[in-house]
Amino acid sequence: MTDQPPFYDDLAACLDEAWRLLSEGAAHRRGACHTPTLATLGRDGAPRLRTVVLREADAGARLLRFHTDARSDKAAEIAREPRVALHAYDPHAKIQIRAEGRATLHGADALAAAAWEAARPMSRTCYGVSPGPGTPIPRGDGYALPTDRATAEEGRARFRVVLVTVERLDFVYLAFEGHRRARFTWDGGTPAATWLVP
Ligand SMILES: Cc1cc2nc3c(=O)[nH]c(=O)nc-3n(C[C@H](O)[C@H](O)[C@H](O)COP(=O)(O)O)c2cc1C
Repeated sequence: MTDQPPFYDDLAACLDEAWRLLSEGAAHRRGACHTPTLATLGRDGAPRLRTVVLREADAGARLLRFHTDARSDKAAEIAREPRVALHAYDPHAKIQIRAEGRATLHGADALAAAAWEAARPMSRTCYGVSPGPGTPIPRGDGYALPTDRATAEEGRARFRVVLVTVERLDFVYLAFEGHRRARFTWDGGTPAATWLVP
């Protein structure tokens, strides 16, 4: 039997490992969890998926943070139905993380102001795109990005921080000797953890 990681038969350590990978993804471009897939519910009730950049993972507060444009479909979908899910798979670690929870949109508060201040100029530019994200255009290049700093700052009004409070986390580790799957829930505030059949 090959050596298994310390979390192999330790529920609490599985949760720590999940948050470690998420934090690593938020901190490093090359982290496997840097670009998770976000699921929202569309207006028609059908699921909708897209990639986002994970900006922060706070295990203590059970928070995941990403940024978006207020004019995007996902922003409207979150405003309508705050229940969302995020998925990431680290092929090197052979770990899948599915986090479900409730999202809040922040545009005018101190949180959004701090995130905007910390954003790179190139990232800020995206929020100044015209027309807005998702608008049909006659040609692929039929949109404009701000070319000067003052115009780029106009994107601030469209910039949104999205915070997801994780209420359920499903962890899967693939191993030749036997996969492991664990589920962590904080529904109603009471934490619970259980192994699941993978
Ligand atoms: C690698 C990668 C990272 C992305 N990061 C973000 C992001 O952090 N926030 C965002 O709103 N869109 C991001 N996008 C674009 C979205 O995946 C999506 O195409 C766009 O936001 C429109 O989504 P919506 O119409 O569902 O709102 C990213 C796309 C890629 C390929």
